[in-house]
Amino acid sequence: MSTRLQFLQQSTLAAAALMTASLESLAMQMPQQKLRVAVIGCGSVSNRYLPQLKSSKLIEVVSLCDIKFDRAEKQAKEFQVRNIYPNIQDLLKGIPFDLMVTLTDMQVHGDLNRMALNAGRHVWSEKPLANTYGEGKALLDLAKSKNLKLWGAPAVVNSPQYAFMKQAIKDGKLGRLASAHGQYGHTGPTWSAFFYEKGGGSMPDLGVYNMSTLTGLLGPARTVMAMTNIVNPERTVDDKGKIKVEAEDNAHILMQHDNNVISHVMCGFNYFDPHGHDAAGQTLHTIQIFGDAGNMRLIGYDWEPKGVFLETSWSEPGKLFETDAKGYEWQEGARVVGEAIINNQTPKIQVEHALHVLEVIEAARKSSETGVRVKLVSSF
Ligand SMILES: NC(=O)c1ccc[n+]([C@@H]2O[C@H](COP(=O)([O-])OP(=O)(O)OC[C@H]3O[C@@H](n4cnc5c(N)ncnc54)[C@H](O)[C@@H]3O)[C@@H](O)[C@H]2O)c1
Repeated sequence: MSTRLQFLQQSTLAAAALMTASLESLAMQMPQQKLRVAVIGCGSVSNRYLPQLKSSKLIEVVSLCDIKFDRAEKQAKEFQVRNIYPNIQDLLKGIPFDLMVTLTDMQVHGDLNRMALNAGRHVWSEKPLANTYGEGKALLDLAKSKNLKLWGAPAVVNSPQYAFMKQAIKDGKLGRLASAHGQYGHTGPTWSAFFYEKGGGSMPDLGVYNMSTLTGLLGPARTVMAMTNIVNPERTVDDKGKIKVEAEDNAHILMQHDNNVISHVMCGFNYFDPHGHDAAGQTLHTIQIFGDAGNMRLIGYDWEPKGVFLETSWSEPGKLFETDAKGYEWQEGARVVGEAIINNQTPKIQVEHALHVLEVIEAARKSSETGVRVKLVSSF
């Protein structure tokens, strides 16, 4: 009897071990679990992010949240997302998710990102990832202490045109680098007041792209000088009607990089551009980089590049390179980092780069107020 019992116990254990082993091998063969994403902020830019996120086989958008709840409802219907919430507290308490994608008004990014990190979620944030460099640095420290990931837009470093320019500089095609310029402007968003309120402005909304491109290509800025001002003191916007403009709508920023390279960014909300806000038709260059042996111009905007025109010869005409986007889209950042989490890879986008650009913006404001050249502490 006891022998039979022993036999039964042993065979049950053996069967359980076999089952565990086969479950493990099954799990190895199964596709990885999807990354569960929640999007907070269902306004204009969510129309660009949601199709990107939904296009990924590795990502499931599980929840949407907006304090204008009807927007969350509308996007949930359009993009077939099951769960919707009217505020971040309910979102964090609700259906579990891994990564929060922050697409709200700029001024609340820092608070929302902190709440998500405190609740154990990874974060991708539209720019800026916080209101100040100090707040952003504290967010990164918090993320690291919790072994979580934090990233901030933009995703310009992902484009093949950016890679081409980076390689051309590395290969010495431009010789000794000297100067660069970037510009981005239009006549300003018409739908929301936050772009013009304190903490908004053309630098965190527009200049941020050129600053990311130029610091990425030329290296971190060491000092910054700037002039910023308000050209148009009053605007009419969809959500609040007539408003007073409080944040800069016109900015010129000078950055000094290592080896005495100087770059300049101009951005604003009063730049007539017949290509409008989506700027898809822009065929002129918006970034130019000069060395003593060559120069490059990025055709189109750095967030939607069309090619790179490179001149390196006194006798031969310059040539246009890298005219294909190769699938790159400016709104791909959250998808790309989400897929990197699932695949355990390190994406090209670095949060330290976004933080550095945040410090540039803050320094530019300080320089404009004081007339002083401001030293930066951050690097990437
Ligand atoms: N619109 C674009 O084409 C575009 C492009 C690139 C980047 N961005 C960036 O995306 C962000 C959003 O811009 P937008 O144009 O979509 O603005 P938007 O005004 O259209 O949408 C913002 C949404 O966030 C919601 N919101 C605000 N505070 C919230 C909170 N505390 N909790 C939940 N929801 C909240 C608002 O109700 C609104 O629906 C900004 O950082 C902007 O710079 C926008």
